[in-house]
Amino acid sequence: MAVNEQKQAFQLHLQELTDRNGGFLETVYALANGHFGVRASDPLQGKLQGSGGMPGLFVNGFYDFSKINYGEVYAGFPENNQTIAQLPDPRYLVLEVDGQRSDEVSFSTRVVDKNLDMETGLLNELFEITSPTGKILQLSLSSFASQADEAIYCVSYTIRPLNFSGSVKLYKQHPYIDQVFSKDGDIRAVSRNNLLDRQFIDADFPALQITTQRSQLGLVMMWRYLGEDSLVSFDSADGIPKYVMDLDLQQGLAESFDFGYSISQIHSLMDVAMNHNAYLKGANAHLQHHSFSSLFTESAHRMQAFWRDADVQIEGDPESQKGIRFNLFHLHQSAGHDGKTSIPAKGLTGAGYEGHYFWDTETFMLPAFTYTNPSMARAILMYRYHTLDAARRQAHDFGLDSGAMFSWRTINGAEASPYFPAGTAQVHINADIAHAASEYIQVTGDTDFLVEAGFEIILETARFWRRYGSFGVDGPQSGHFVINKVTGPDEYTALVNNNYYTNRMAQHNLRLAVLYARQLQQTHPNKLEELGVTEKELQAFSHAADEMYLPYDDELAVKMQDDGAFNLEIWPFDQTPRDHYPLLLHYHPLRLYRHQVNKQPDTLLSDFLFPEDQDIEQLKRDFDYYEPLTTHDSSLSRPIFSILANRIRAHHKAYRYIAESLLTDLNNGQGNSQDGVHVGSMGASWMEMTFGVAGMIRTQKDGLTFSPHLPSQWTALTFKIKYQGSQVSVHITRSQAIFKLVVGDAMTLHCDGQLVSLKAKSRTATVTLDEK
Ligand code: BGC
Repeated sequence: MAVNEQKQAFQLHLQELTDRNGGFLETVYALANGHFGVRASDPLQGKLQGSGGMPGLFVNGFYDFSKINYGEVYAGFPENNQTIAQLPDPRYLVLEVDGQRSDEVSFSTRVVDKNLDMETGLLNELFEITSPTGKILQLSLSSFASQADEAIYCVSYTIRPLNFSGSVKLYKQHPYIDQVFSKDGDIRAVSRNNLLDRQFIDADFPALQITTQRSQLGLVMMWRYLGEDSLVSFDSADGIPKYVMDLDLQQGLAESFDFGYSISQIHSLMDVAMNHNAYLKGANAHLQHHSFSSLFTESAHRMQAFWRDADVQIEGDPESQKGIRFNLFHLHQSAGHDGKTSIPAKGLTGAGYEGHYFWDTETFMLPAFTYTNPSMARAILMYRYHTLDAARRQAHDFGLDSGAMFSWRTINGAEASPYFPAGTAQVHINADIAHAASEYIQVTGDTDFLVEAGFEIILETARFWRRYGSFGVDGPQSGHFVINKVTGPDEYTALVNNNYYTNRMAQHNLRLAVLYARQLQQTHPNKLEELGVTEKELQAFSHAADEMYLPYDDELAVKMQDDGAFNLEIWPFDQTPRDHYPLLLHYHPLRLYRHQVNKQPDTLLSDFLFPEDQDIEQLKRDFDYYEPLTTHDSSLSRPIFSILANRIRAHHKAYRYIAESLLTDLNNGQGNSQDGVHVGSMGASWMEMTFGVAGMIRTQKDGLTFSPHLPSQWTALTFKIKYQGSQVSVHITRSQAIFKLVVGDAMTLHCDGQLVSLKAKSRTATVTLDEK
């Protein structure tokens, strides 16, 4: 591919997008770096009401509580919601033309162009602004969220008058309280987000302390002009610290101004050690010694390093190529890396799902990190470790005397799900986390993590299963370990007994606890003592796992979603209008729960995660049974279907699922991308390439095996993975798979039944692919 074409494949240009809705563009062009995210809103908008957008800065893990009001409250229901805070938009700029200010009267803004260079993380935008007096200005913005220093965001403004010469003032400020227009157009000042307090800090540059009232968190944000220009002055005379640019502009001539923001870590207001002045001094000195371009160069290098390991190249299908790149870009920029935060389901691109972390992180996003960026995967898992105490409290609330139960949706570790049948009852999240932790350990060989955190997570979750489940007393379940009253991944079925997926995952969780306990008995016996593990407990885990009840319909020879699943009527799909999907927005849950209808794969997810459980015939029967029942109302659904369709060799079908799911956000396929991107689905699209098209499977017995099949629409697929300290690149065409050892001395894997042995001296191996 020519260099230009390669560069082009990293650009996301406005012309490529069919949806031009303001909220949608704010989301897809949002920039983030794991610590914070900034939506690509109208820079003059601030928080002017009626402008339609949702501008703002979202800091990962910075939230406040709000009380959940229940009609009837049972013991143990979460008292509080946790909502990510919408902070001042660092792109915000106030213009003054002919004595009229854009924060007092509406100027019109037209989006002319936008382009995101995903290779470096630089966003370029062009707007045309018209003042109420008819003066037209071109405003261009270049911005990036630093990938090298997570505190830093930079924005450069270039302004050019198109139909006049004269005086224009710019203000770079974030007022103490938000200003909004009332219905009759008058300006009034109100605190729109009443959860937040903001205070200016006395300094030679603008700085704000932002605190939350109920969760008692704080952070500091400062901004600085990046340059020596005499046109810019700092002013705080009216109590609002700001930079003022008093310009005498010539028609057609441009002036540029660069600003750097520093956004501190979150601290607890109880933390007396937090010293704002020291932070601000350091942040100011750092920005003072840098320019927009030097900060950008550092950031772009880090972004390019990310692509070196994580890029997935699809040849022959530019749309899919763009889709996977866009997904990987957002996946990367959404991930908290401090061990105290995780990945919100909507990333840091919007307030959708209130900034909560779900099982999406471990089940759908983590594999991409585990195989391409293990240190990030470790940090993400450490977040769960740091919330183990909250999980222990939740297990206690469930009436259990030991173990830990992770929250279904949360920021601080405590449950924030107000609807427990489709929320808290999804106890499978416990086993999902244990599974992800174990995969990380197996793939990376990071036994330090096992000792430091992984084992405790796996043990405490196993203890939960041992207590939550019980041994059946009569009928076919007699003597078997049963787990009653749970909700599986399919949220259109709730509070069932023996959900196949949950039971199979719990079985795995119990076995993992025994496996790692045996390993630590040899290497770190103190760890077992410290955590109070006894031989009796391990035997109880093994017994429960061995006796785990897994519902199966002998007549249909299909795995049954739960005990009563097949007794229910099938949902009347032929009488359901197209615009009544997603069903949850149109039908009462009690109507859905009484039918066989799946929001997303449930039992099939277990088939995906445990490929050695069934032969291809069983998989086909399961697939054929559940596929027609599935609405894909969750964006997490199609990727799993594409992977399984590949496994059963329904390659055309697999491609249809891939093509749709790769473009979930770029095409606004779920119709709600304006609230934020679907990061779980983005992570799953990496799985579609590796576990699906390349047919990658990791088993304890064989290690990594591949069974590739390239869609006929593509000419090649290339990606790299890291495995136990080595890195291998995989290049798949219709007829060949080429494996190349990039890092490491030796690695063996299997491809289509052949042993592939890569060594320092013969780093490349080619396998001729069977016609599948
Ligand atoms: C899905 C859940 C998912 C949540 C957050 C829901 O629509 O059904 O599985 O965890 O969205 O992405």
